[in-house]
Amino acid sequence: MNANPTIDGQRLLQRIAEFAAIGATPAGGVNRQALSLEDRMARRRLAELAVARGFCVYQDAIANLFIRRVGRAPSLPPVLIGSHLDSQPTGGRFDGALGTLSAFEVLESLEDAGAVTERPVEVACWTNEEGSRFFPGCMGSMAFVGAGDISGWQEMDGADGTKLADELQATLAALPEVEMRPVGHSVAAFIELHIEQGPVLERANVPIGIVTAVQGTKWLQVSLTGEAAHAGTTPPAYRRDPLAAAVEAIASLQQAVMPADPSARLTVGRMIVEPGSINVVPERVTLTLDLRHPEKEVLAAIEARAGTECRAAARRHRVEVSIEKRFDMAPGKFDVSVVEAIANACGRLDIPTMKMVSGAFHDALFLSRVAPAAMIFVPCRDGISHNEAEFVSPQNIEIGARVLYETVRELAG
Ligand code: GLV
Ligand code: MN
Ligand code: MN
Repeated sequence: MNANPTIDGQRLLQRIAEFAAIGATPAGGVNRQALSLEDRMARRRLAELAVARGFCVYQDAIANLFIRRVGRAPSLPPVLIGSHLDSQPTGGRFDGALGTLSAFEVLESLEDAGAVTERPVEVACWTNEEGSRFFPGCMGSMAFVGAGDISGWQEMDGADGTKLADELQATLAALPEVEMRPVGHSVAAFIELHIEQGPVLERANVPIGIVTAVQGTKWLQVSLTGEAAHAGTTPPAYRRDPLAAAVEAIASLQQAVMPADPSARLTVGRMIVEPGSINVVPERVTLTLDLRHPEKEVLAAIEARAGTECRAAARRHRVEVSIEKRFDMAPGKFDVSVVEAIANACGRLDIPTMKMVSGAFHDALFLSRVAPAAMIFVPCRDGISHNEAEFVSPQNIEIGARVLYETVRELAG
């Protein structure tokens, strides 16, 4: 074994480029949505690479993919590392892929070095972290920790009209040679490397963020139903216009929520207007609300406010309103010992760090319910993410993977 083994930065960069070609968009990003054909291709490529290195590959009923490198004590729970390979419809090439491919690089580097760890080390590639095609996000990790109901999700329609059950089945069937595993197993620790997706590290010129907590997220889907009517002939008193109600509700929320609290986030990312004709007063508007806050009580208050504003606007316009909660991720804190292990690894490597709270949600937060977990962040250019222009410098990619490797060496023994 090398005296000071480390990862192969060139191999990792080349892998990131190779996976970015799967679902590549003309603007330089990726469209590799959960359980799509492109997602299946990326999973297949990862499984092939794993088999070529002699690692065991498994999948479970929600299509989480695991790659295992055995340790001296194979019965011990593994150190689990990884992230996701699915992307936003106009996603970047690093969100998820960076953590998954860096985790695989760690496994390969351990193999290259002939390292014998006490515990097995496993790469996890979680299904549908993004939640954009099928609600909720973090579906795979949620199921893994027993927080989600796989059978309840089966009938769900995706944003593109497909059924989750069909797409899940096709995704599992695309890897017929991969052994099935029950959903969930014991884990010694989970570490997820990810891009920060915000501007803090870059502004501070610090290459590594050690994530101590994740803010909470709630997703609401609001449906407002009025009555279709002729745009030219229907006077205001005769209209039951759900879009007019939606616009008022959103405007009130935009004025109330974020200006009052610098930590609050409110986003309307999707709005469907039906029937969607220029000269028809709409019959129905369906919109999503993404609400975030680091404090559970404040997040609950924002959710309540969203309900109040939507109902009040609906009353004013005499339309029906229904509000469904589609995702509820409470804020959470990561494990002090894993945070310390990452900090120690950075200390040994002489890499500057800062502790931070994640504004994005991540699979690691669900894993933290069943195992000690924490995250490593690297900066991304201008803090841009969920955008095809997302960019992480090769230098920071390599630093992040080295920190992951060093942390795994400590935790896996
Ligand atoms: C993750 O994709 C998030 O929206 O935070
Ligand atoms: Mn992600
Ligand atoms: Mn994302």
